[in-house]
Amino acid sequence: MDSDIYADELIEQYEHPHNKGTIDKPDGEMHRDNPLCGDDITVYFLSDGDVIRDVKFSGSGCVISMSTASKLTDFVKGKALGEIEGMGVKDVIGLIGLDPGPARLKCATLSLRALKEAVFVYEHKVVDAETKKL
Ligand code: FES
Repeated sequence: MDSDIYADELIEQYEHPHNKGTIDKPDGEMHRDNPLCGDDITVYFLSDGDVIRDVKFSGSGCVISMSTASKLTDFVKGKALGEIEGMGVKDVIGLIGLDPGPARLKCATLSLRALKEAVFVYEHKVVDAETKKL
């Protein structure tokens, strides 16, 4: 029952995604794809000091990847860059309200990987192993 509610919400986000689009002259930008299916996403952000001021995403993908990108971009606005660097699989599952299972986990983490890598590059840091596994 609960998972049906979450699934309905994900479909709603897929059909009416938040923060879809691009940002001219972003502070950070990263493209990533899922080699298993070819779906791709690019995340753009503007920072205000060490905080995300605006964030958008473009690309195409399945219900899980696109609805997660929608929810993630809503969530990270106003968050500190350091907080985003520390996000992982559990945070994504918490955001979408369900565990997509091993076969679809990469769908759910695609936007987080792109965002985190954009943040690491912006901060002139090495992308950590945890992020590369997303
Ligand atoms: Fe391609 Fe989900 S099936 S990202």
